[in-house]
Amino acid sequence: MATNSQKSDGRVRLASIGVGMIGHVHAKIAAGLNECEYVAICDTDPDQERMAQGYGVRFYTDYKEMIKKETLDGVIVSLPNELHEPVGTACAEAGLHIFMEKPITSTIAEADKLINSTQRNNVHLLIAHHRRFNPMVVATRKMIRSGELGDLVGVSILWCMYKPSEYFVAGPWRRQKGGGPILINTIHEIDNLRFFYGEIERVYAEVSNKTRRFEVEDTVSISLRFTDGTLASILMSDAAPSLWGYECTMGENPHFYPTKGNIYHFLGTKASLTFPGMTKVYYADPSKAGWQHPITREQLNIKSADPYPDQLKHFCKVINGEETPRTSGEDARKTLIATLAVHESGMTGKPIQIDYT
Ligand SMILES: NC(=O)c1ccc[n+]([C@@H]2O[C@H](COP(=O)([O-])OP(=O)(O)OC[C@H]3O[C@@H](n4cnc5c(N)ncnc54)[C@H](O)[C@@H]3O)[C@@H](O)[C@H]2O)c1
Repeated sequence: MATNSQKSDGRVRLASIGVGMIGHVHAKIAAGLNECEYVAICDTDPDQERMAQGYGVRFYTDYKEMIKKETLDGVIVSLPNELHEPVGTACAEAGLHIFMEKPITSTIAEADKLINSTQRNNVHLLIAHHRRFNPMVVATRKMIRSGELGDLVGVSILWCMYKPSEYFVAGPWRRQKGGGPILINTIHEIDNLRFFYGEIERVYAEVSNKTRRFEVEDTVSISLRFTDGTLASILMSDAAPSLWGYECTMGENPHFYPTKGNIYHFLGTKASLTFPGMTKVYYADPSKAGWQHPITREQLNIKSADPYPDQLKHFCKVINGEETPRTSGEDARKTLIATLAVHESGMTGKPIQIDYT
């Protein structure tokens, strides 16, 4: 793998490209992380120079100039979706390891181009499916995969949070094709399902822009089938106030007002589980199992934690060859394929059989 500047102390040199809503979160962490030396920020918005000054790093408005002038090991790319491929490919061609915000890209053709370029240039690509670093997500995955709930029968997901009007003014790309809550938000639920359990083989979706009337959707209802026949459903909307949205209930990011509510229900043949409430319910005496019998509720002591610092530490370890990307380009490409199938089903009104090739 390419190594441009790694020092003997193992600290890698990083810079950010894009420091808007999520890029700022990464910048703040990078600036305080022992595992890296944070050296520069690039954003086309000149007002972001103040952020660079605040962190004591150099500022650029042209990322090509930055990667030419700075000696870097890796870049943190947090740009609008349609820029992921061209900027990612240019960084790979410059021999830089890439931590790319999700979705990997907006289309599969772009994902292939980016992945090929990282392979050709021998650099790592880590996609920011950050939830995979939350200890509660990791523990739930282990419970499901170990059979603690029995065979998984189904999963029910509700994601509903009201996006303020400023969100669409600050990022007009969010109202246009290539933006939209399927690629910005639902992709996380799809990635979670793949991480928790396995591959999705078919999706059917109803998609609506009835409320906001943007080019992109505001509300989506999805039915999914895993390859072993397990079923899942997701209802998502960014147009209604509610208590039931992943970011608000998990407390991962201070940007979101914390609420309490269960957003996932995992249903298994031996037990079921609420998430993030982590209440497990089951029949304690298997000889007395059935809807006429009392059911046991057990409160599990598993806590959520901020996954973003661990994700960035992981990127540093990936650069140093100590770990392999938890979400590689190929893995994120599969999440993108399943997510785009939701979109396609909504457009065609037909179930979509997913082909991961
Ligand atoms: N993992 C997460 O929790 C999470 C959360 C939000 C967004 N995202 C993803 O992160 C990406 C960015 O989303 P956001 O909400 O932060 O967007 P944003 O619009 O708030 O920020 C994008 C930033 O990129 C800058 N920019 C645009 N073009 C540029 C260029 N050519 N060179 C340098 N800077 C440029 C903009 O000025 C802006 O500051 C999207 O892909 C989104 O899907 C991930």
